[in-house]
Amino acid sequence: MEFAKDIESFNTDEAIAELKLLALEILRHDGLYHAGDNPEISDADYDALRRRNLAIEQKFPDLIRENSPSKRVGFAALDKFEKIAHSIPMLSLSNAFNDEDVFEFGKKIARFLKTSSVPVLTAEPKIDGLSLSLRYENGKLVSAGTRGDGATGENVTHNAKTISNIPLVLAGKNIPQIVEIRGEVYMTNEAFTKLNERMVAEGKPTYVNPRNTAAGSLRQLDSAVTAKRPLKFFAYAWGEMSEMPSTTQMGMVEKMRDWGFSINPLMQVFDNTQDLLKHYYKIDEERAGLGYDIDGVVYKVNDLALQARLGFIARSPRWAIAHKFAAEKAWTVLKEIEIQVGRTGALTPVARLEPITVGGVVVTNATLHNGDYIAGIGNDGEPIRDGVDLRVGDHVMIQRAGDVIPQILSADLDKRDAMSKPFEFPTVCPHCGSKAVREINPISGKQDSIMRCTGGLICPAQATERLKHFVGRKAYDIDGLGDKQVEALYADGTITNAADIFTLRERDAKNLKRLKDRDGWGATSVKKLFEAIDDKRNIELRRFIFGLGIRHVGEGTAKDLAVSYGSIEGFTQAMKQVAQGSVEAREELIGIDGIGVAVTDALQSFFSEKHNLDVYDALLEQVKPIAPEAVMADTPVAGKTVVFTGALEKMTRDEAKAMAERLGAKVSGSVSKKTDLLVAGPGAGSKLKKAQDLGIETLDEDGWLELVR
Ligand code: IVH
Repeated sequence: MEFAKDIESFNTDEAIAELKLLALEILRHDGLYHAGDNPEISDADYDALRRRNLAIEQKFPDLIRENSPSKRVGFAALDKFEKIAHSIPMLSLSNAFNDEDVFEFGKKIARFLKTSSVPVLTAEPKIDGLSLSLRYENGKLVSAGTRGDGATGENVTHNAKTISNIPLVLAGKNIPQIVEIRGEVYMTNEAFTKLNERMVAEGKPTYVNPRNTAAGSLRQLDSAVTAKRPLKFFAYAWGEMSEMPSTTQMGMVEKMRDWGFSINPLMQVFDNTQDLLKHYYKIDEERAGLGYDIDGVVYKVNDLALQARLGFIARSPRWAIAHKFAAEKAWTVLKEIEIQVGRTGALTPVARLEPITVGGVVVTNATLHNGDYIAGIGNDGEPIRDGVDLRVGDHVMIQRAGDVIPQILSADLDKRDAMSKPFEFPTVCPHCGSKAVREINPISGKQDSIMRCTGGLICPAQATERLKHFVGRKAYDIDGLGDKQVEALYADGTITNAADIFTLRERDAKNLKRLKDRDGWGATSVKKLFEAIDDKRNIELRRFIFGLGIRHVGEGTAKDLAVSYGSIEGFTQAMKQVAQGSVEAREELIGIDGIGVAVTDALQSFFSEKHNLDVYDALLEQVKPIAPEAVMADTPVAGKTVVFTGALEKMTRDEAKAMAERLGAKVSGSVSKKTDLLVAGPGAGSKLKKAQDLGIETLDEDGWLELVR
């Protein structure tokens, strides 16, 4: 890509102007790319824009903009990784957008090979992640490189080693001396959701989609950060091989499986195009339930000898094609904007839509996030949808993003009613009338884009949402108490808080109007409900904690707390001490790996509220939370507090943490006087120094493995 002027000759004004242009332009291309449209520019040109942005920022560090692409995950430290040259280039695929294109692909191949039939093809999902090339020498992983421009990528070896299903050593016998395995790094939808929960808890901005996040995570300079992000890898191709163990695509991939790689279970071989296309439509149907994002199906000629004859056109193989899924978009009418109030008081606007089928699913709602979003302003204060606001009555284009939560992409201004008015976001809670406010984020110091009802305990919407959360699948999971039942039982005062659920049977026996006589209930369903409730009196500690519905305390955080405090007594005592302002108890809490200031503050304020404590104590009269899975007591690390720092090479950070916890140790994220042991890998910095200053025992990874084996 050609640029107007050499950066070296820039003056400040020129730099300011160009940084602004670049920020907007890169943002626009991000938008095009992620909206599922065809990007206007090639990956290489896009990279060139980002590099130029970074180069100007390096020359004028004072001019770095708030919305600079370099500040977003994925764009950090672009030039700081070592380069890695691919011995065989990493290529891209040409695309097919419909069945015709696929038939044409087959015909072209047959013509090229001068055969009358289309050769046998493999079909497998096109994973929406980023490609990675792994080089093994004598069976050992020696380097990992991103695709980059195809010829040269970034050396991300340390980070790749933190990915749990990338083998560090190949399994089996007779492994070729040089093996280069290529495949896709991705993040599961579940891991993505959990990560975003954690980001919210830590008061940090959330990520847009799993693909970006996987890319950003793999390109972290600090591999400890990568290790915290649960990335995965599917192997599907290869680069340099000193020997070829198979003569077919399928055979090669099966060999990869034998060597210890994960391969995609939906990969299959087809000898005719009809069946191949059937597989495509089947994968498309199953897409939403796969648990990871895919954006098409890749077809490849199975016979490697034919692949070699077919060769390449430009930078794509002639023997492969990506059959993309149709972008799932549709126009409909925005009928109403409803404000929902969550259990933590957040006012969330939801778009009620004229029902419309998008990609085989009827869509009636779309998320609207917050008032700014409706007004056409993004999280970063920059315009979204070109600044177009959304109004009731608008014709809107919706898309099923990531296949699950529909989003509104744009509104058709030509069809907008001339009398329509911008949506006025309420300033009071629609359920209890309390004032709604925007809070200041304690970490960023900026005003939150979410409005919150200040009604707290008096707000019926918050109370019912808390109860729904309490009985929900991830907390107490009480069969027979769904949203409707909770709403009805709350509305007439039968259940006002969580403890009431456990006294229901006892109170019902004394009531004149029995539960079994209510509409929608009967003797059997009530009996079952009471049994389901009694069943949960021995609730797991992590579910107990999660069920409290404390802001920022998601499933993962609840588990960390349960494991760390080990028992309900330990947890209760610590929380009460934190509430009373004990500095030590607070430090211990914040020291738990994965717990940040936001969670700590939320716990402190929850346990400082008398009403919460009353319900908490009443609940504990009804339930007996059971400690996390028994941990071993007679190990060299039992009861000790361990900190891991630097890169680990033989195990992932999660594995190390789980191992330590199984052996009865507590794992903390920071070094303090309470730390008993520090395990430091290469690249360890300030934590290692602090531990040495405090005279804390320090081991390397091998030392740790020796100690615990
Ligand atoms: S094969 C020479 N198979 O799609 C062909 N690519 O547009 C090499 N991708 O850069 C690629 N899933 O990152 C292949 N099952 C799959 C894939 C796949 C995702 C990505 C890959 C590649 C891009 C090409």
